[in-house]
Amino acid sequence: MTYDGTYSLLNVGKIFAGPNSIEKIADIVKECNVQKVLLITAKGVWDAGLVARPVALLESAGIQVDVINHTPPEPEIGHVNEIFNLAKEKNSQMVIGIGGGSAMDVAKIVALMFTNQVPLKDMLGIEKVKNPGLPTLLIPTTAGTGAEVTPNAIVLVPEEELKVGIVSSKMMANYVILDPLLTLGLPQAITAFTGVDALAHAIECYISKKGNPFSDMYALQAVRLISRSLRKAYRDGQDVEARHDMILGSMYGGICIATSSTTAVHALSYPLGGKYRIPHGLSNAILLPSVMEYNLDACEHKFRDIAEAMGLDIAGLSTRQAAEKMIENLYSLLADINIECTLRDKGIREEDLDGLVEAASKVTRLLDNNPKAMTRQDMRAIYQKLL
Ligand SMILES: NC(=O)c1ccc[n+]([C@@H]2O[C@H](COP(=O)([O-])OP(=O)(O)OC[C@H]3O[C@@H](n4cnc5c(N)ncnc54)[C@H](O)[C@@H]3O)[C@@H](O)[C@H]2O)c1
Ligand SMILES: [Fe+2]
Repeated sequence: MTYDGTYSLLNVGKIFAGPNSIEKIADIVKECNVQKVLLITAKGVWDAGLVARPVALLESAGIQVDVINHTPPEPEIGHVNEIFNLAKEKNSQMVIGIGGGSAMDVAKIVALMFTNQVPLKDMLGIEKVKNPGLPTLLIPTTAGTGAEVTPNAIVLVPEEELKVGIVSSKMMANYVILDPLLTLGLPQAITAFTGVDALAHAIECYISKKGNPFSDMYALQAVRLISRSLRKAYRDGQDVEARHDMILGSMYGGICIATSSTTAVHALSYPLGGKYRIPHGLSNAILLPSVMEYNLDACEHKFRDIAEAMGLDIAGLSTRQAAEKMIENLYSLLADINIECTLRDKGIREEDLDGLVEAASKVTRLLDNNPKAMTRQDMRAIYQKLL
């Protein structure tokens, strides 16, 4: 395929990866010539004991660490403001985010709030941020959002019942540590939800209208890694090789977002998170196969490529058959990792569908990239099918 137009790839500064790469944390901070850091994490991550070692490493290198350890999952805009109010007293020189997408997104936003004296709501949207933030180091403990390498941070805006993004090249991290050992204790359900989120990033960015040679390469490799290891990581959380594949696959999915874009799965997912508080990974998982069925006519060749990357046996199949097999595999993956839930299970009723469509249709930032145009009726039909 030839690509017309220019495409670009935003990159983070430096990535350390592999088992025990967390041991690099103090060297990284020293490289930044910083004496005082703010470490932002979530309660689940703190309770899992994942923060003690990084703090000990920093402190023994003479670095002062202030910890905020109560970032809520899927934070609201008000939560982020509260956390910044605590943080701003601390004269921090650098922000470290350790956790899933929720904690890393808060760390990314707080780093910007230190240097941009504007209310957070004024930074929502695309490239609204004026000044670069404090230096950041992001350390994922889910695999996942890929938020460690994206220019995005997502907050829930309760009055709009929607999740909204800050998208800014100024939010790219200076450093990332990808240590699969930090994900060994990730609970089974979170392993499942977050793993499908990563797969959705790869598939959506591959079929997106913004897809390009960079996203193609990272997307197909993410699909390979996640397809061979998500079931394994779900069955045995202590499988280091599977966890390693997953954290790399998740990061590659994030790189795809940084050069391409997600599409209708994420657009239709935002109101499920915003109004019904369904976790991000789960809402994407519920939608992924159905949205791909909708897209089938527009994406047969690309779905065939994805089927191949998934390791499916497509020898002798027509392009259409291989594409259909890719979608069947999405359903069987969800069944294998016990994601079999309907919107009704989550309290959504027929009379709620118009509101969902109304909210989803505002997410034009992503809908515009879907390979097949989606009308309100199309969106309604997808939600209806998932009831
Ligand atoms: N910035 C981006 O590019 C981007 C992309 C996709 C999603 N997101 C956002 O990220 C958020 C979701 O992030 P997530 O799916 O990673 O989940 P999360 O960060 O909300 O974490 C889910 C739960 O798992 C716990 N947890 C995390 N790591 C753990 C570990 N190793 N052991 C035990 N418990 C652990 C957390 O404390 C939390 O309770 C949403 O707000 C979503 O909108 C951001
Ligand atoms: Fe996502």
